[in-house]
Amino acid sequence: MTTTTPRYEVTASKYRPKTFDELAGQEFVVSTIKNSLKSGHVANAYLFSGPRGCGKTSAARILARSLNCEKGPEAGPCSGMAGADVCSNCLSISRGASMDVLEIDGASNNSVNDVRQIKDEVLFPPQSGRYKVYIIDEVHMLSQSAFNALLKTIEEPPPYICFIFATTELHKVPPTIKSRCQQFNFRLIPVETIQEILKKICAENNIHAEDDALFWIARESTGSMRDAFTLFDQIVSFSEGKIRSELIREKLGIIGLDKLNAFSEACAANDTTSVFALTDEILGSGVAIEQFVIDLAGYYRSLLLLKNGVTRESILGYRPAQFSVKALDAYDSIRLEQALDILLDCYRNMRYGVSVRFELEIAVSKLAWLNKWVSPAELKNAIDNAQAILNQGFSVSQNQQSPRRNDSQQSQNNEKPAYQQPASDGRSLQNEFQRMIAAKDAATAASTTADSSTETDDDDVPLWNNAVNKNTDAETYPQVEQVRSIIPGTIVP
Ligand SMILES: Nc1ncnc2c1ncn2[C@@H]1O[C@H](COP(=O)(O)OP(=O)(O)OP(=O)(O)O)[C@@H](O)[C@H]1O
Ligand SMILES: [Mg+2]
Ligand SMILES: [Zn+2]
Repeated sequence: MTTTTPRYEVTASKYRPKTFDELAGQEFVVSTIKNSLKSGHVANAYLFSGPRGCGKTSAARILARSLNCEKGPEAGPCSGMAGADVCSNCLSISRGASMDVLEIDGASNNSVNDVRQIKDEVLFPPQSGRYKVYIIDEVHMLSQSAFNALLKTIEEPPPYICFIFATTELHKVPPTIKSRCQQFNFRLIPVETIQEILKKICAENNIHAEDDALFWIARESTGSMRDAFTLFDQIVSFSEGKIRSELIREKLGIIGLDKLNAFSEACAANDTTSVFALTDEILGSGVAIEQFVIDLAGYYRSLLLLKNGVTRESILGYRPAQFSVKALDAYDSIRLEQALDILLDCYRNMRYGVSVRFELEIAVSKLAWLNKWVSPAELKNAIDNAQAILNQGFSVSQNQQSPRRNDSQQSQNNEKPAYQQPASDGRSLQNEFQRMIAAKDAATAASTTADSSTETDDDDVPLWNNAVNKNTDAETYPQVEQVRSIIPGTIVP
């Protein structure tokens, strides 16, 4: 004789909410439906829409049970599957044995003939309950003619009929159907709420779990309770009663925050050797390249948000104190935006590139030099500022003769040198560059003719040095020092 062991029940179905109070994160939907049940205002049809796994089907079943519960719709359905306080209607609906609650999968019953069958059935009143309830899941899958065939029935059904439609794709439901339904938009469930539910389940099942690990599961599920339960089950299966972040990282190939902090600190120090070594180490630990790029993008996003005053753990993914202070101090928002740009570009390019790894490495290399990066807007601004300062300086030179410049030479030049000419209005950046190049040539020419015996003919000395040292008194032009500080490196050495 063989004995059968009871089948393992996945957490998602074991913990499917059975009353409105158990439906987490949908307070608006719950309170509105409860109020309408209390006041006896039951609609002909309800349309539940929202992201996957956030409680639409569960809410439809709870509503169906409420409508037929022997205690009355206003009291809500009996809780629990079995027991002294569960009425026979609630029990048979929970078991899927009730003839008064029919759950139809819209994806596989989407033809006009399926709808015709419903239209015929609605003529028969409920057997034991108050209402005959049709739950049509994935309703957006119905064909256009099936929707059309439903219109009349939804608008004027027999008084004992209630339709509950559920869909993840509201935009595919025709407006003619929407306008005949009471619509409820289900929301993504907040990370903290998911974490709390997981904590409770752990306590009930004697599972020891680190808070960080549960938070990670909650965050990964991006607002879907079903996704959270599925990931939770997977982790429980290899955790042997103790859910630990370290073990999750190891088994699922996930990069810990400590690694990301080390990576960004190496980037901040322009330590390319360490940056590439860390990259290799992370990939070697089994992390997929795409996942690495996603995690890095998430990390720099969090730094950007932190820089802008966001401190909520649920948005950042970790507590603010867990992020590297060194990395945070090394960059401002502009550099962090650029880091995100680099990584998002990298992810897009991976699809078309020669090698996914090459794409990653070029992105990593760019990140290692991120603090040297200058945005086009900053460059433009610096050039504008430099231009303004030079114009100011050179117009002074027009009024105050340079002590080194001799009058005879000045009088020979009827036309002012380019660098002395005031900037015209409405100038383009290109014109400005041309003007600056002309100014450089003019200044170099002027400096060689002004005092060729005492000045060295050094091509390496940039324009601004020539202008100061050769044509003018440096003290007359303190602004030039400012120019140097505005445009470091190549433009004004
Ligand atoms: N708001 C919630 N509160 C508690 N548990 C929930 C909630 N939403 C979903 N769940 C859990 O997720 C499982 C799936 O929920 P449900 O079938 O109601 O989602 P759904 O919105 O219909 O998803 P889909 O759009 O994929 O059909 C439930 O069995 C339950 O365990
Ligand atoms: Mg569903
Ligand atoms: Zn009941």
